[in-house]
Amino acid sequence: MANKHSSLKLILRFSKFLKPYWKKGLAALFLMLLAVVLQLPMPFLTRYLIDKVIILRDFRTLNIIGFVLIAVLLVRASSIFIERVLLSTFRARVLFDIRIALFQHLQRLSLSFFHNKETGYLMSRVGDDVGAVQGLLADTMVSFVQNTLTFIAGVACTLYIHPKLALISFSILPLYALSLKVFNKRIRNMSYEVRERYANVQKDLQELLSGISIIKAFSREKHTAIRMVRSTKEAVRKEVKLNILSALAGISSTVISAAGPLVLIWYGCAEIMRGDLTVGGLVAFNSFIRYLFGPTQALMNINFSVQRSLAACQRIFEMLDLQPEVKEKKEAVEPGRLKGDVVLQDVSFSYDSGDRILDGVSLRARPGQIVALVGTSGVGKTTLVSLIPRFYDPEQGRVLIDGTDIKDMRLRSLRDNIGIVSQETFLFSSTVRENIRFGRLGATDQEVTEAARLAQAHEFITRLPEGYDTQIGERGVKLSGGQRQRIAIARAILRNPSILILDEATSNLDSESERAIQQALRPLMKNRTTFVIAHRLSTVLDADKIVVLDGGKVVAQGKHSELYQSCPVYRRLYDEQFLNPRIEEEIPIQQQPSASEVTPVESVEEFDHGYLLSLEG
Ligand SMILES: Nc1ncnc2c1ncn2[C@@H]1O[C@H](COP(=O)(O)OP(=O)(O)OP(=O)(O)O)[C@@H](O)[C@H]1O
Ligand SMILES: [Mg+2]
Repeated sequence: MANKHSSLKLILRFSKFLKPYWKKGLAALFLMLLAVVLQLPMPFLTRYLIDKVIILRDFRTLNIIGFVLIAVLLVRASSIFIERVLLSTFRARVLFDIRIALFQHLQRLSLSFFHNKETGYLMSRVGDDVGAVQGLLADTMVSFVQNTLTFIAGVACTLYIHPKLALISFSILPLYALSLKVFNKRIRNMSYEVRERYANVQKDLQELLSGISIIKAFSREKHTAIRMVRSTKEAVRKEVKLNILSALAGISSTVISAAGPLVLIWYGCAEIMRGDLTVGGLVAFNSFIRYLFGPTQALMNINFSVQRSLAACQRIFEMLDLQPEVKEKKEAVEPGRLKGDVVLQDVSFSYDSGDRILDGVSLRARPGQIVALVGTSGVGKTTLVSLIPRFYDPEQGRVLIDGTDIKDMRLRSLRDNIGIVSQETFLFSSTVRENIRFGRLGATDQEVTEAARLAQAHEFITRLPEGYDTQIGERGVKLSGGQRQRIAIARAILRNPSILILDEATSNLDSESERAIQQALRPLMKNRTTFVIAHRLSTVLDADKIVVLDGGKVVAQGKHSELYQSCPVYRRLYDEQFLNPRIEEEIPIQQQPSASEVTPVESVEEFDHGYLLSLEG
């Protein structure tokens, strides 16, 4: 780890982000240099003033020197100002690039990654870690260059004025190296941990805020406050430790820096008494020695803050180095519009937590067919359909569409062919219109309205305060569950996919919403291959093929009537799940059809409609 993340490697890799803006950086560097060089004449002039001008009472020279000094000061001030302006745009652009690179990389990672990392944690890593990298830029960089240059100038000038004194002062320098060795790595590791802790605080905060209605409903404010206090406390504790360590490091460099001038005065006075040095010489030397130890101390402190930034840098690169699990092959083909002949061949799958969820599943959906997946909760229905858009890759077996393994297709075009209405509807905090248009970004307003009409959503949307331009709040909180779902359906309709995946919500909608959604789905299923995860009776009855999942395997496939006769798993599911008690409560007992009456497939249509009518009545 130490080698892989050596400071030099991190800095070299980081410098790639600076490259596009090197001209700005260089210009700033030049101005910095100017500012440093303009500082240099001061001590020489001071020596000249004390040793010559004062003694000769030369007012004219004094005035010239005065004006020159003021001019130099003005030039210096303006070059510093311009340099700061250049650097702040430089910094803003570099940070922007890193943030976007990180975000885009995150988006490319597979779903499994996001299921293993909490949103708040990731937010902290894209937000705070990038922010913390600032330590490597702008002010730090300015000070680094400035102090290094000043230091070099200091070395040259002290050697020039009095080599012996200079060498004696230099003898202090190795102590700095010692202090670096003691503190650097500790500070970096500790900063890494502090960042990690704060990412966890962020994770808790994000989770608690999005769960606020549940927290209130269960009056768990105190409980969640305790959780927050606990994670924050840990972070703060680590941070205090880090600060103490940094303070120790700072003090050690201060002490070393103070030792320099002490040695100088001690030895310098003796040299004056021996007549080897003038008083002016000692004063000038004293100024220069500040150029030696001042910058060294500053460089040490910069180093410690750079160590903190490098820890953030390391975290960013770790993130950028993650590879998506679902990868597109280089020679992947562009399938164009698919017909929708979906085949699963002996597919097995487990999440990284272990248990086999799917075990040798084979099934086929021909173009235009409706395939219903049924099974108990947690059996793997959602998992199965998420293999079709390659959210995950199967461990064994293949998924073919129109005869091509989906692993050989461009991911983007594969997914362009698929529309999904998922079990939990997700909407963005934007307008209704934008949420529907998410299905196909180029769609016109008219097409959006048309999709909403088909999804039975148009009516309620026009009743909203601002119609299609109503802001629906984060995750669509300002809409009802049924309304959210219909918008999600409109979004999928607009996409006009050749393969449609409907993961019906298990939540019991009121019968009116349920009916509206049912009607919304019909036009959507026309002329495309549809996989429906069925929780509703009518969906099962509408299907061309019902696939029964149990224990990770397909235990039966067929039409409702056949399955009800031949498959005990299906019969049990049907009786328990689809003839669900809520609906039974709503219709008078005598009207409730017995299971045997529903069995024949011919009566299905009639039953379905009659059932719905009885609900309406
Ligand atoms: N991201 C995940 N990581 C690990 N295990 C998971 C993950 N998602 C689901 N599982 C597990 O996989 C199994 C199948 O889940 P899946 O969501 O496919 O069930 P389902 O049939 O859709 O259930 P339901 O009808 O309740 O929606 C469950 O036992 C669940 O615990
Ligand atoms: Mg599910």
